[in-house]
Amino acid sequence: MSAKLKHIAFIMDGNGRWATKRGLPRSAGHKKGAEVLQEIVKTAADMEIPCLTFYAFSTENWHRDKAEVDYLMNLLRQYLHSELKEIKERGARIRFIGERDMLDSDIVAQMNNIEAETAANEKFTLCIALSYGSRAEIVHAAKMMAASVASGKIQISDINENTFASQLYTAGIPDPDLVIRTSGEQRISNYLLWQIAYSEFYFSKTLWPDFSAKEFKEIIDDFNTRERRYGKL
Ligand code: FPP
Repeated sequence: MSAKLKHIAFIMDGNGRWATKRGLPRSAGHKKGAEVLQEIVKTAADMEIPCLTFYAFSTENWHRDKAEVDYLMNLLRQYLHSELKEIKERGARIRFIGERDMLDSDIVAQMNNIEAETAANEKFTLCIALSYGSRAEIVHAAKMMAASVASGKIQISDINENTFASQLYTAGIPDPDLVIRTSGEQRISNYLLWQIAYSEFYFSKTLWPDFSAKEFKEIIDDFNTRERRYGKL
């Protein structure tokens, strides 16, 4: 695997279509999707890719039917309970990015607990975007900077790309080298807008519940053939 590849971010799209195609409720697609997420995390950890981010729930997803939102939140509760235990045992650090005040308090308590328990782990970072929207994240960072200027903690001249990035939810996490979106849609959907300035993109036609470790490895092989110039010659 390429030494350059530090962070891969996923948009796990197509759960609903996968289920509908099989005459199943959308929830069946999310359930299978959560299993695929677990498989990809294990594969990446085995390949020593140090950081993964998954878009599990966007701020826009709150507008879905209550039954679907409730299903996803219960899936998350289960996930936080069971699978994350194994991830911790692997020496992984868990980070959550997004608007926590929109989430139920028991979930937030679980998230805070897992983050605190794993904060010192350095081998692998699993970042889960939950109730996440990138524009809201950027506005939040701008407010934090403005408050620091207003209180005299910093000067306007102290604001630069590094100090601004340190106020994003992703502070301390390297920018994604590669963004993978499944299901054939070719859009970013308010995901990591600041952080993807120099990312490579891979749009797979596969619906997320059909995504596999095999395809993941093929995408990494494809990435390793790309020449990244960061705007230079
Ligand atoms: C997009 O598919 C997927 C989501 C909105 C949710 C992603 C969530 C999972 C894969 C499960 C996550 C696991 C946890 C731990 C919560 P879609 O529903 O938009 O599919 P469609 O575009 O085909 O309708």
